[in-house]
Amino acid sequence: MPNHEHDVLVIGAGPGGYVCAIRAAQLGLNVGIVDKEKALGGTCLRVGCIPSKALLESSHLFEQTRHDLASHGIGVDGVKLDLAAMLKRKDGVVKQLTGGVASLMRKNKIAVYHGAASFNDDRSVRIGKDTVKAKHVVIATGSEPASLPGVDLTQDRIDTSTEALDYDKVPDHLIVIGAGVIGLELGSVWRRLGAKVTVLEYLDRIMPGLDAEMAKEAQKVFAKQGLEFKLGCKVTGVEQTKKGVKVAIEGQAPVEADRVLVCVGRKPHTEGLSCEKAGVELDERGCVKIGDGFRTTGWSDEVGIYAIGDVVVGPMLAHKAEEEGVAVAEIIGTGHGHLDYDTIPNIVYTEPEVASVGKTEEELKGAGVKYRKGKFPFMANGRAKAIDETTGMVKVLADAETDRVLGVHIIGASAGDLIAECATAMAFGASSEDIARACHAHPTLAEAVKEAALAVDGRAIHI
Ligand code: NAI
Repeated sequence: MPNHEHDVLVIGAGPGGYVCAIRAAQLGLNVGIVDKEKALGGTCLRVGCIPSKALLESSHLFEQTRHDLASHGIGVDGVKLDLAAMLKRKDGVVKQLTGGVASLMRKNKIAVYHGAASFNDDRSVRIGKDTVKAKHVVIATGSEPASLPGVDLTQDRIDTSTEALDYDKVPDHLIVIGAGVIGLELGSVWRRLGAKVTVLEYLDRIMPGLDAEMAKEAQKVFAKQGLEFKLGCKVTGVEQTKKGVKVAIEGQAPVEADRVLVCVGRKPHTEGLSCEKAGVELDERGCVKIGDGFRTTGWSDEVGIYAIGDVVVGPMLAHKAEEEGVAVAEIIGTGHGHLDYDTIPNIVYTEPEVASVGKTEEELKGAGVKYRKGKFPFMANGRAKAIDETTGMVKVLADAETDRVLGVHIIGASAGDLIAECATAMAFGASSEDIARACHAHPTLAEAVKEAALAVDGRAIHI
């Protein structure tokens, strides 16, 4: 017999799960949420987006204070790193935000269960000693770091992003495997704090999936900052040595360092869920298979199972998971829910930031879409000059016939905030002319977006 019953039970309290729970509660449903970790918020809040952004900010301030203040006429002597204090601040930020999620659950009268959930074969869910029944179960169990053959992530000094948020000493030499988002963000943190950082990447470019022109520009900037890139390197194994690690590369001499950070992607997390007992099928990559309305296979129309976030196909992004959480809650609560996958922004929180929304030039060419392009460099933006942030540019891609914006790519200061305007414009089906005609305040970095939109029609004012 179940000892708890809900309209909706959400498994996993990351950004996808907890947002889904709140939206379902707002719609008047009786909601329960379960997480195996004591702190709510999932990977993003505990060991992902939030702690990494806290360290990115601290390490940026450290680097800026040491190197960039003199030109402003500010002299600072004896700048010291107190790594323990930096990590403590980061932990404090995490604690506040995970506590915030717990209080949001209380405010919305959502029942919180702590423990690992698994499906029973009688259409119920087991959480420790509890048996929970729900009309709708939402799987939002997220993802975990992936590894490579020959690389054992359980070994000391062979780290994932989780350990790289907590080094108690700055490594002399850190090898990063994978020039994707995590490698560049956390590689930047430890480089700024004094480590030599070597990034080994399998492909002949960094940040696969990003517009190639932007990736090339970004690589130049990061290399100038001191990140060492070795492209076209297929890592085939890592072994621990007395002093550190030795990384084997196909066809090349091995590289040694103090530690290695493995960031070659993440994989969906379904371990321990007993999906087979509920008839929930996984695809060949281990993602929970979903059909219309985020429905998985298994159970019945009356007792439905849904899946959202990193555990299903698509970009592994907190904001994508959140929107899917809202959509599935609305489907359950109202019968309608929607998410526009073409306008999900993507941001790499390096310095400068790299942000994009919509299609890359390569994707448009591949699909045979005719487009026009407008570019504007931050070098020609007054505010960027005033704040010494002239690196980078904005690129707007618009349909050659209709002028509808198909993609925007930004590398530059606050790119992650600037992309919000572009995503909103695209969600409303805006043309580049719409963005260009909208009044942008002066002096702001956002004027570079307007100018790039003007440049689509060859009408940029300041270049
Ligand atoms: P990623 O998929 O972004 O990059 C992995 C990189 O590893 C690729 O460039 C790949 O070519 C390379 N690689 C694969 N096998 C290799 C080998 N044998 N030798 C050398 N290189 C190899 O994965 P990452 O950085 O681990 O991130 C995982 C996920 O987390 C991503 O989906 C990302 O979207 C998400 N994430 C998002 C953030 C953000 O939005 N700012 C921040 C952190 C993570």
